[in-house]
Amino acid sequence: MLLVTGGAGFIGANFILDWLAASDEAIVNLDKLTYAGNLENLRPLDGDARHVFVQGDIGDRTLVDALLQRYRPRAVINFAAESHVDRSIHGPAEFIQTNVVGTFNLLESVRAHWAGLPADAQAAFRFLHISTDEVYGSLGPTDPPFSETTAYAPNSPYSASKAASDHLVRAYHHTYGLPVLTTNCSNNYGPLQFPEKLIPLVIHNALAGKPLPIYGDGSNVRDWLYVGDHCSAIRRVLEAGRVGETYNIGGRNEKTNLEVVHTLCAILDELHPGSPVTPHASLIAFVKDRPGHDRRYAIDATKIERELGWTPGETFETGIRRTVAWYLANADWVNHVTSGEYRRWVSQNYADTSV
Ligand code: NAD
Ligand code: DAU
Repeated sequence: MLLVTGGAGFIGANFILDWLAASDEAIVNLDKLTYAGNLENLRPLDGDARHVFVQGDIGDRTLVDALLQRYRPRAVINFAAESHVDRSIHGPAEFIQTNVVGTFNLLESVRAHWAGLPADAQAAFRFLHISTDEVYGSLGPTDPPFSETTAYAPNSPYSASKAASDHLVRAYHHTYGLPVLTTNCSNNYGPLQFPEKLIPLVIHNALAGKPLPIYGDGSNVRDWLYVGDHCSAIRRVLEAGRVGETYNIGGRNEKTNLEVVHTLCAILDELHPGSPVTPHASLIAFVKDRPGHDRRYAIDATKIERELGWTPGETFETGIRRTVAWYLANADWVNHVTSGEYRRWVSQNYADTSV
């Protein structure tokens, strides 16, 4: 079986649902259930013995040691993290605690467990660490996209904490021989994404007739990947990735934030003409920029494409339409996650605007 951490969050839940749709290999899911973790994401697995949920912290050595001892997973996939850049600006401590100290403790537990395995199980074991393209910093308009050899230059407390975790993972391979793999992916979007991130936030606000906050002038560029394609890349890396290697994952979908928001508004105009304010683009509001806002991210995915034969299944056009349709069909999910804590966050982050 697999031990997945952070499997009640956006990408982790999509990964578990996709995995169990295609395989009978069971998953133990260790998740702290922070504001971003939501068991409703895993409701289709209610009563399914292949999914074992454990609420807890990746930094809790006693708990993780016990889980490794009891379930003896053949791989650990580490999704657990504090993931939102704006939150890392308001409160970096939690990012250091989970992303750095938590990953360190998890690695220590896994190292001790792995060291005690018989030789064949040691050779087959994998620790797959899920990371981000933000560790590479910011690109200028004509710079080549990030490759696996681009120097790390993180700019936010979030990306610095992820970079630190990547370095620890690397060091555990080089020093102790732990069979690790690291993936660095670009911006994901799709079902189950918490509406603090740009795409679900814009859909949520547009449907409510609220302003669509665009930081700065909206010309920052992100490279978007449908979450299901990220999950298929992770499966492929787990299956065939070379131990000790890192793989960049991206869909070659560079868009400015303004392009993304206009696309969302156009789809909503078509699929949901009854919103309180239309056209939806009339809600666009330029607001104060994010401090230290990275200008451009772009991924060169040549290595995973060539070595592992992975390619994304969705274009941005098909993926974004699927995503809007999912949010329209799942108003209950959105209503449940936009209660107390969410409202507190929105009033803190957008205090200078009427968003
Ligand atoms: P998310 O915030 O939606 O989910 C994170 C999950 O981790 C939540 O379920 C939360 O409860 C859990 N968690 C947090 N702290 C924990 C702890 N100490 N112990 C156990 N569980 C804990 O994040 P996401 O967007 O699904 O991102 C998942 C991973 O992918 C992260 O490592 C992130 O850095 C990485 N990543 C995200 C993106 C993206 O666009 N969202 C892109 C590339 C990489
Ligand atoms: O690149 C991968 C990263 O993508 C992941 O590692 C992070 O976990 C994930 O959160 C995401 O980071 P970003 O900061 O790029 O995503 P976010 O959705 O917060 O913002 C996307 C862009 O939209 C960014 O340029 C900031 C801008 N933005 C965001 C919000 C929330 C706005 O203009 N307005 C907003 O209200």
